[in-house]
Amino acid sequence: MRSQTILPASLGLLATLGVLVSMGVLASMWVLASLPAIAAPRTYELPKPTAALRPAAGRESGFEAAQANCMTCHSVDYIAMQPPGKGVAFWTSEVTKMTKVYHAPINEADARAIADYLAAAY
Ligand code: HEC
Repeated sequence: MRSQTILPASLGLLATLGVLVSMGVLASMWVLASLPAIAAPRTYELPKPTAALRPAAGRESGFEAAQANCMTCHSVDYIAMQPPGKGVAFWTSEVTKMTKVYHAPINEADARAIADYLAAAY
């Protein structure tokens, strides 16, 4: 009478173990099967280079001053991501902010030329 109740219980345990083991085998087969995909070469489409300032005809001195002064603390992206056509007042206040708030060492003549150039180029 006693062995009749123990037997189904141990069969159930064995079945559970069997399921767990086969799940483990399947999982390791899946990992092995995906290894070639991990090792396969990948190709990337690089974005267009944004690391250079845009030139502007007739604003060469401002362009050069901007190249010398506006890329020391941050990338050109900070300039290029501003909305287009903001005009000379906007760029003058930007350049003033860089010198007054962030202490960019730019003299007044260069600052004016830079604002003028940026208004023409962006
Ligand atoms: C001394 C370091 C320094 C120099 C040099 C500098 N900047 Fe900046 N600039 C900053 C900092 C700091 C920020 C703010 C970054 C932030 O808020 O994440 C900034 C942000 C900006 C932004 C984003 C808009 C804003 O107002 O925050 C623009 C546009 C910009 N700079 C333009 C210029 C131009 C043009 C020049 C050259 C005249 C220049 N920067 C030179 C430090 C500098």
